[in-house]
Amino acid sequence: MNNNRRSFLKMAGLLSTGMASGPLHGFSKNSDHNAVSGAGTNDAQLFNMCGYRAPKIDTVRIGFAGLGNRGSAAVKRISHIDGISINGLCDIRPERVQQSQAAIKSLPYKPALYSASGDDYKKMCEREDIDVVYIATPWNLHVPIAVYAMNHGKHVCIEVGNAESIEECWQLVNASEKNKKHCIFLENCCYDFFELLTLNMARQGYFGDIVHCEGAYIHTIEESLFDVNARYNLWRLRENAKGSGNLYPTHGLGPICQVMNINRGDQLDYLVSVSGNDFTLHHLEEEAYKKDPATFKPFLNAGFRGNMNTSVIKTMKGKTIMLQHDVSSPRVYSRIHLISGTKGSALKYPLPGKIANSHEGWLSEDDMKKLEDTYTLPIVKRLGEMAKQVGGHGGMDFLMDWRWIDCLRNGLPVDNDVYDAALWTSIGPLSKWSAAHRSASIDVPDFTRGAWKKNKPVELSIDHENLTGVKA
Ligand SMILES: NC(=O)c1ccc[n+]([C@@H]2O[C@H](COP(=O)([O-])OP(=O)(O)OC[C@H]3O[C@@H](n4cnc5c(N)ncnc54)[C@H](O)[C@@H]3O)[C@@H](O)[C@H]2O)c1
Repeated sequence: MNNNRRSFLKMAGLLSTGMASGPLHGFSKNSDHNAVSGAGTNDAQLFNMCGYRAPKIDTVRIGFAGLGNRGSAAVKRISHIDGISINGLCDIRPERVQQSQAAIKSLPYKPALYSASGDDYKKMCEREDIDVVYIATPWNLHVPIAVYAMNHGKHVCIEVGNAESIEECWQLVNASEKNKKHCIFLENCCYDFFELLTLNMARQGYFGDIVHCEGAYIHTIEESLFDVNARYNLWRLRENAKGSGNLYPTHGLGPICQVMNINRGDQLDYLVSVSGNDFTLHHLEEEAYKKDPATFKPFLNAGFRGNMNTSVIKTMKGKTIMLQHDVSSPRVYSRIHLISGTKGSALKYPLPGKIANSHEGWLSEDDMKKLEDTYTLPIVKRLGEMAKQVGGHGGMDFLMDWRWIDCLRNGLPVDNDVYDAALWTSIGPLSKWSAAHRSASIDVPDFTRGAWKKNKPVELSIDHENLTGVKA
């Protein structure tokens, strides 16, 4: 890197976020002042993982890394799905490993257990009898574990979160392409019932050309951020103290990227992002410090991200996205999920979800029922009731897990691949950069390195033999 570029990047604050390093990062495709999202790379793809059909795996052997709130629930959920074996359980806290082991003790699985150190996941990744490593750790471990696992011949599933840097996103892409291993992004909101309905409607042309979409993560979790029992080592509070941007972009963004065929026909081009100040977290931090100075001293005056972050993204095909993040205001839960097209629109929140085919008003309950009859996907018709019984955010978690397992068992392309994982989580560091630079625009990297122009959307079809079974 030449000195001029280094000093420019230093000024732009990008060296410290990892946005300037790695093999693929040049200046903006538009202008110098935009700098450094890596979009202008000339490097070729090693292999196109979009649409990739991996060799079929009859029994999908899974090792779980991270058995806290989310990982332990996944173990229980997945044990209802046929054609799997739970062969590894790993958590830095031995009691979490024991709890998950106890939860499946009546089942015929004999998982190897790993909790000796923070690096013990490596031993699990090195095992011959594991096909997939399912990662539900704090965010800062997602990429190190995923890259290690893919380099050791495993597919990976990664829980949602936020990339630590753009460089990390490229690490995921390179490891997946080099090893031809799937990096499945566990964005469960893509499998919620209204999202699947509107995805199918969009694909069947109900909304016409999509013009604009909105998504969000508006969810009041600020009390739990300061609760030492809520998560391991207050990891999510630490993330909130790191920088101001969209820290949890994928619940809102994932479903609308699918509707807009992002990575498969269109691509995110650039974003601008603005963060307001923090009006709530520092009060909670002061209270927490008074009660427990030893634990909360490191957070004192750490500087928290603002309550509300809003990002606006333009796509290569001239469409727009508005994305919000607020986990600390007393708001009613919302992921918005607005779809605005030339022939119709949909809005999920405030619940219930609504559809319109003109500006005159939302469709009646009767008309909504007719739409559901027409557009409900076969996967929902077949597994929706079972998914609701097993649960996991109303059933979407179960549908998601059934789907990726069925894809691996049948050698089908996965719905949310490494390019989705990299792109959706890259909004974290990009929004932080833009918000820190008076909302200057920044290019979104094209992790497909141009392949988005020819990639095709993945059909959510269940029209194949050897459909994976489920048990109550
Ligand atoms: N999709 C969703 O709806 C949803 C909901 C909640 C959480 N999540 C995601 O799930 C992930 C985990 O969140 P959580 O709420 O379960 O957090 P958690 O703190 O309850 O669980 C994380 C677990 O990782 C373990 N861990 C930490 N370091 C480790 C290491 N070096 N090796 C092995 N294990 C280690 C911890 O002991 C802990 O049990 C995050 O990515 C989060 O964003 C997703």
